[in-house]
Amino acid sequence: MARSALLNVMVQAVRKAGRGLTRDFGEVENLQVSLKGPGDFVSAADKRSEQVLYEELKKARPAFGFLMEERGEVVGTDENHRWVVDPLDGTTNFLHGIPAFAISVALERAGVPVAGVIYNPVTDELYTAERGGGAFVNDRRLRVAARREMPDCVIATGIPHLGRGDHGAYLGELRQVMANCAGIRRVGSAALDLAYVAAGRFDGFWERGLSPWDTSAGWLMVKEAGGFVSDIDGKERVHETRTIVAGNEEIHRQLLATLARARG
Ligand code: IPD
Ligand code: CA
Ligand code: CA
Ligand code: CA
Repeated sequence: MARSALLNVMVQAVRKAGRGLTRDFGEVENLQVSLKGPGDFVSAADKRSEQVLYEELKKARPAFGFLMEERGEVVGTDENHRWVVDPLDGTTNFLHGIPAFAISVALERAGVPVAGVIYNPVTDELYTAERGGGAFVNDRRLRVAARREMPDCVIATGIPHLGRGDHGAYLGELRQVMANCAGIRRVGSAALDLAYVAAGRFDGFWERGLSPWDTSAGWLMVKEAGGFVSDIDGKERVHETRTIVAGNEEIHRQLLATLARARG
């Protein structure tokens, strides 16, 4: 598997930030934690990881812009390229000592993800994808699952935390999907959910209220593993609508139809 120079930059950056997260995970009870809103936590680990990623990526490509969860947007002189960074996806898991979290970094060219890395430093699973070059976990090529019927499928989702206004919409969708698939999973990291769809562990995934840093790398990962990704209306407007539906071609289609039934 040949990685481009840019992907190597991303891999080095997430490995360095991952070492910091592993250290902080070992001392999670001593971390400074604050609330961005009800049920929405941020800690010193999120901020430290973001700083490492920012420094490493900036050093390698000084002109590129950034969109980061904690720091927000940093406009670059190269308007065509931006890094989209989630320094710790799964903060709630992290702070509860649950080893299901990841770093997610995508490179977008003219708004389209062209390279993506998702790294879980606890399992040392490094997911990488480049547009047209396939998706990999460590050195193994990824392929979405082949199941073609919803009743055989495990479908992942996210459930809105306290303070989000869309609990009602989720309940309707959960009810429909629950009644039609083999089982539902809620991991707590949207980046890992998408990586697991790419790896064929999950047959499908949907969620509302996500941001580009949650979905950009995973979106590319699923597509490069032969899967389909859209917003909840079946369109490409994942960032704009902040909704995402993913799976193989058939399950993506069936999941979209199931979700549409929930909306009546
Ligand atoms: C969260 C996780 C979670 C999803 C939330 C996200 P964070 O990201 O991806 O699975 O359900 O909507 O905000 O805040 O832990 O980076
Ligand atoms: Ca967060
Ligand atoms: Ca996130
Ligand atoms: Ca985060």
